[in-house]
Amino acid sequence: MPPQTNFWILETANTAYAFGLNQAGFLVNASWSLRLPNSQDYPPPPESPGWASFNNPAQVLPEEFPAYGGMCYQEPCLKVTFADGVRDVVLRFDSAATTSDGVTITLRDIDYPLRVILHYRAHGPYDLIERWAVIINDGPTPLMLERIFSAQWHVPPGPTYHLSHLTGRWNDEFHLIREPLTNGVKILESRRLTTSHHHNPWFCLDDGQASETDGQVWFGALAWSGNWKLAAEVTNFATTRLSLGLNDWDFAWKLNSGEEFTTPSAFAGYTTGGYGAASRKLHAFIRERILPHGTTPHKILYNSWEATLFDVNMESQARLAEIAADLGIELFVMDDGWFHGRHNDQAGLGDWWPDPIKFPHGLQPLIQRVNALGMDFGLWIEPEMVNPNSELYRAHPDWILHFPTRQPTLGRNQCILNLARPDVQEYLLAQIDRLLTENNITFIKWDMNRNVSEPGWADAPGDPREIWVRYVQGLYHLWDELRRRHPQVVWQSCSGGGGRADLGILRLADQIWVSDNTQAIARLAIQAGFSRVFPASVMEAWVTDADRGRIPLAFRFHVSMCGSLGLGGDLLKWTPAERAEAAHWIARYKDLRPLIQLGNQYRLGPAALQYMGQDGQRGVLFAFRTCLAEPASPLRIKLQGLQPKLIYEIEGFPGPRSGSAWMASELEIWLGNFESTLREIAVVVGGCPKSKFGQPLSRLKKV
Ligand code: DGJ
Repeated sequence: MPPQTNFWILETANTAYAFGLNQAGFLVNASWSLRLPNSQDYPPPPESPGWASFNNPAQVLPEEFPAYGGMCYQEPCLKVTFADGVRDVVLRFDSAATTSDGVTITLRDIDYPLRVILHYRAHGPYDLIERWAVIINDGPTPLMLERIFSAQWHVPPGPTYHLSHLTGRWNDEFHLIREPLTNGVKILESRRLTTSHHHNPWFCLDDGQASETDGQVWFGALAWSGNWKLAAEVTNFATTRLSLGLNDWDFAWKLNSGEEFTTPSAFAGYTTGGYGAASRKLHAFIRERILPHGTTPHKILYNSWEATLFDVNMESQARLAEIAADLGIELFVMDDGWFHGRHNDQAGLGDWWPDPIKFPHGLQPLIQRVNALGMDFGLWIEPEMVNPNSELYRAHPDWILHFPTRQPTLGRNQCILNLARPDVQEYLLAQIDRLLTENNITFIKWDMNRNVSEPGWADAPGDPREIWVRYVQGLYHLWDELRRRHPQVVWQSCSGGGGRADLGILRLADQIWVSDNTQAIARLAIQAGFSRVFPASVMEAWVTDADRGRIPLAFRFHVSMCGSLGLGGDLLKWTPAERAEAAHWIARYKDLRPLIQLGNQYRLGPAALQYMGQDGQRGVLFAFRTCLAEPASPLRIKLQGLQPKLIYEIEGFPGPRSGSAWMASELEIWLGNFESTLREIAVVVGGCPKSKFGQPLSRLKKV
C-alpha cells in the first residue's frame, strides 16, 4: 500500500499513536496500541456517515480535538464566542509540520479567523505522548474562549472501560478508586484554584481485564496546578473518550486580535504491562524529564513543625538540630513561626522577614549553628497568603482576591494574594529573593493552606474570569524566577499536605509533602495512591510522634523509608533507645536510598513494596502487616523486576537462586500485627552477595 498522506504515527519505544485526516476531512484517531513493524500495519483513519439525522459524523468519530459547533453534543475541547455573538466553531485541516520528536497540526475555522495548533510530542523511552494546543486570534476583533482543553484521548471502541482515579480530602489524600464507566460523562475536577486534595489530574483506563502486572492500560496526567477538569465520556455508540485540561467552570479568556493562548500539557501513554508498568513509566518520566533535580537523591531532613509548632526560636531549634545531627540527619528545616509577628496562625503571613523577638540577630546565627553541625538549612514559607493582621495587608488590602462589596471569607485566618498582579509578584520576588540571598538556605518548603473564595479581580486587564489561569501563571512565573536566581535551592510543594501535587508544580519543586497525616497505617494507603503517579523520590515522608507508643518505631521508619525519608517528631522526647534505633534506620536508608529514590518501584500487594536499582543488581523489599488474619497466615509475596538469569540472595531467605526462580515462587513472611520487615536483595558475584546486607537492628550503638 502507498504511504497515506495526512496520516501520522507517533512511535515510542513500545507503542504507536496513529491519527490522520479521514476522507471527509475530520482529524481523527486511528489507533493507540503496541508498535507494529510497518506503517501500513496501522488501521487508516476511521470514516462514518453518522447515525440517522440525530447524529452526524462528528458525534460518532474519534476526533482529536472536537470543537463546539454544528451538531456537537459530546464533550468538546474548544468552545468560543466570536465578537458577533456566534458560538460555533468548525475546524478544518490547514497544514502539518513534523518536528524532531512529533508533529504540529494547524486547523482553521472555515469562516472565522481562528487558528488552532495542536502539538504532539513523543517521549519515546517512557511510551508517553505529550499534547497541548495553541489558539490564535487572527482577526481584528476579540473573541472569548470559554473552554479550552489540552487534548481528547480515544481508546478502542467496544469494552466497558474502568477508570482509576485518586480521591480524598485534607489529611486523607490519594485514595485509589476504580470504577466502570457507563454511558454518560464522568467529571473529575478542581474548582479550588489549586490541584486540590480531593481529586488529582491523573487517570488510568483499562478494559476491565488489567491487573497490577498485566493487561492493557491507558493512563495520563495534566501538568497544571490550578483548576482542571477531566471528562470521561462513554457515548451511545460504545466508544470511550477522555478529555483533560483547564476547567471551564467560571472560566473565560478574552483573546484580543493577534493574541494566542497556550494550554498546559497533557501526557498520556499505553502499556500492556498493567497498572504497575503504567506507574513506572510515569515515575521515570517525572524523574528524568520533569523534575528540576530528578536524578539526584534527596537529603534526609528533619522538620521542626510537629515538635515546636509556632514556638520557634534560636534555642528551641538549636536543641533539635543537635540531636538531629547526631542521628545522621542531613538537612534541618525550620517550619512555620519564624517570621515577623507569627506567634500563632492569626498574624504575620506576608511579612517575610525574621521575627525580631524570636530572632533578634536574624536567621544567620541559627543557620551557622546548623551548618556547623554538618547539616544544610531549609525554611518554610507560604508566599501566596496574607493575614489581615500583617504589615503587608495594612499597606495593600487591595492585593487580595476579593469582591469589593463582599467581606472576604477567611480560611485559617488568611486571605489569598492575587498572584496574577505583577505588583504582588514583584513584592514576593523581592522578599524571598532577599531571604535566599542573605542566608545560606538550600531547601524551601512552599506551603498553601487554604482554597479560594471570592475570586474577584477588580482592575483585571481582561475578563476577570481569567484569574483562574493568570493566578497559576503568576505563581509559575514567580517560582521560576526564584529558581533561576537561586539554583542551589531544592523546593518542596506543600498545600496543607498533598493539595498541590501535579506535573506542573513538579517542574519547579522536586518534592511533595504528601499529607499532614503522618500516622503510619494511614500513610500506607495514602502513599500507595500517591505511587500511582509519582516516584518515591517526590514523596516526602516523615517519622513523627503521631503513633509513638502504639506502633513500633521500626514499622514507622519502614513506612517513611518507602519514600524520601524525613523525621518530624519532638526529638527531645525520644528516649536513648529510640534515638539509637532512629540512627540505625537512617544509616540503612542512606545505603538503600539510590534504589528507593531512583530505582523502579513494584507494588507487590496491599502491603508490600519492592524497589530495584536501574541495573537490576540490587533491591529492597518492605512488607507490612496491619491486621492479623485469623487463623494467622503468612504474607505470600511474589517478587518482580529481577533479571531472570542473574543469581540473587535475599536477606533472610535460603538462597542463592536465579531471578527466574525467585519470581516464580512466593516468599513466605510471618508478621504479627503492626510488624514490618525490610529485606535486601542482592546479586551474587563469585559466591557472595554483591552488597553486604545492612547491620541487624539487634546490634545497635546508643546515640
Ligand atoms: C501545613 C503543612 O502541611 C504542615 O506541614 C506545616 O507546614 C503547617 N502548614 C505550618 O503552618
